[in-house]
Amino acid sequence: MKAKFITLFPELIQSYLKDALISKATAAGLLHFEVVNLRDFTDNKYKSVDDAPFGGGDGMLLRADILEKALKSVLDTEKNQTVIYFSPQGQVLTHEKVKAFASSAKDTEFVFICGRYAGIDQRFIDTYVDLEVSIGDYILSGGELAALVFTETVSRFIPGTLGNSISSDEDSFKDGLLEAPQFTRPQLWNELKVPEVLTSGDHGKIKTWKDEMSLKVTKEKRPDLLAKKGHK
Ligand code: ADE
Repeated sequence: MKAKFITLFPELIQSYLKDALISKATAAGLLHFEVVNLRDFTDNKYKSVDDAPFGGGDGMLLRADILEKALKSVLDTEKNQTVIYFSPQGQVLTHEKVKAFASSAKDTEFVFICGRYAGIDQRFIDTYVDLEVSIGDYILSGGELAALVFTETVSRFIPGTLGNSISSDEDSFKDGLLEAPQFTRPQLWNELKVPEVLTSGDHGKIKTWKDEMSLKVTKEKRPDLLAKKGHK
């Protein structure tokens, strides 16, 4: 996965990229990231990047001309690049979409536009943005956390990045269902025992139990997921 972040908060992104698993995968050449500070592209001594919206409205907007300069510093006609603007107006990220982005990652480099304030000039979106992505129906103060959520979820599907043998598909959401409950030592804690089947050593029985629990938990906690899969 290759991605460039255009942001007013480069330290926020950098501190995440220092995460052990991410930096290991970066060192192994599986992930490539670059962080671009939007403020480096201002044209005024106040280093301002925003201005008030025409026609009135709350807050300030990031200026299209400054965003364009920053974007042009990373655009490369030799490369296939996908410019993603994180916004609540975008398509909502789901497990299936994450998988699709991960499989497209080998053929494209992502360029993330992280907005701040009340938004960005629509002309920039219309001219340069390929996709708008939302991470959920709520409002963040900026696109950085959304870009990092995208990075983390997509990179989990890049073979080798997880740092263990379990594939991301075996986590919650395998087959669109939630995961069965999990237990570790101590086997007896506050008079609560670990379900016996899990310590039986019978792999067939364990698998059946996990599948049944997975269905039960999904029915109880997220019946909407079952409905999506066509279960009753
Ligand atoms: N920026 C502000 N809110 C957002 C959201 N929900 N998803 C992605 N980017 C955002």
